[in-house]
Amino acid sequence: MRQGSMKVSILLLCVFFCCALNANATSFSVGSYGAKGDPSVDDTTAFVNTWKAACASSGDVELLIPQGTYFLGQVIFRGPCKFNTITVNLKGVLKASTDLSRFGKGDDWVEFSFFNGLTLTGGGTFDGQGRSSWSKNECPTKKNCKVLPTSVKFVSLTNAEVKGVNSKDPKFFHFGVLQCNNFKASNIYLKAPEDSPNTDGIHIERSKSVSITASTIGTGDDCISIGQGNSDVLISGIKCGPGHGISVGSLGRYPNEGNVQGLIVKDSIIFGTTNGVRIKTWENSPSWSNVDNMTFQNIKMNNVYNPIIIDQNYCPYYNCDRSAPSKVKLSNIFFKDITGSSKSQAAVTVKCSQAAPCQNVNLQNVNLQYTGGSNPTAVCSYANIAFSGTKVPAECTSA
Ligand SMILES: *[C@@H]1O[C@H](CO)[C@@H](O)[C@H](O)[C@H]1NC(C)=O
Repeated sequence: MRQGSMKVSILLLCVFFCCALNANATSFSVGSYGAKGDPSVDDTTAFVNTWKAACASSGDVELLIPQGTYFLGQVIFRGPCKFNTITVNLKGVLKASTDLSRFGKGDDWVEFSFFNGLTLTGGGTFDGQGRSSWSKNECPTKKNCKVLPTSVKFVSLTNAEVKGVNSKDPKFFHFGVLQCNNFKASNIYLKAPEDSPNTDGIHIERSKSVSITASTIGTGDDCISIGQGNSDVLISGIKCGPGHGISVGSLGRYPNEGNVQGLIVKDSIIFGTTNGVRIKTWENSPSWSNVDNMTFQNIKMNNVYNPIIIDQNYCPYYNCDRSAPSKVKLSNIFFKDITGSSKSQAAVTVKCSQAAPCQNVNLQNVNLQYTGGSNPTAVCSYANIAFSGTKVPAECTSA
């Protein structure tokens, strides 16, 4: 009895202490810096001033964006900062200006960059208001196009966590993760129309130890794209569709791209997309790079046009430079327990580079039915490929 009540007091003390600790986080609300949360008022300056104050504060800091609709031009949350950690508590809706001149060339809408210890949470929404700019996007047809602003870019952050936030209708990508180390995203919800151009859900580049889990992405381009220079990436519990699926790449387009090593994509559902899981590389790459150690496991495909595809002849335009094969070398690629339906007969495509045939591609327990009724096929070229367990489609004969 005595011991029991002692335990309760210790527990209460603990709860009190933890609450007290939490209350010690200095809070900066955008309202205190003049933000109105009224969509007819521009709150950009108020957000910038709130950040200046939060960034200069020490200890654990909260930046609060209460409920309301905030109209914003470009907002840069850039370090280095004095704080230990910052929680950006986004409860409201942020609406981007539709005036493209407010975002510098190649710049983004909201940027978090060059500091440690970000938590972005709160259930709020980034509304990129992209609809009016989509027709101005020339990237789907031109190689040297002007890139539109990404809604939220995370650059050179260490130990960042994004959980329980939403994004809709970005002008370009929803989220970009660049040069981050230990970046975790979970319970995020990204939405844009199926026909909106280049609205990738999350694009990751030159980052290390990244996880994207328990999230729902329906958009006009890749749900998640894993670009050059990444290592140790985990993608799990994703609902993807519509869109272009979960992709590695595109790679081999620019000089001196980094290798991509250590990727796991698992326990996910992909539906109504053009591709399921894909690796795409350009031909005539300016330099050599490697893609090594990737596992795609326990993925359910529903009405996906190309459920499993390695495409080293990637060409999103009507004309590409095909004067030499891709210089991206692929090895140790595993597709395990991939089931569901394929909208094209070629349920599996493995088209590798003549200059660097794929090494050790494994398909184990793949069961993809062609919705057209006849038997699905596997189309392969320049690949060292092994099939085991369930084989639907039946194994291909390498060209
Ligand atoms: C492959 O990548 C995974 C995920 O990053 C990692 O845990 C594993 O150790 C890697 N395996 C090898 C052989 O490098």
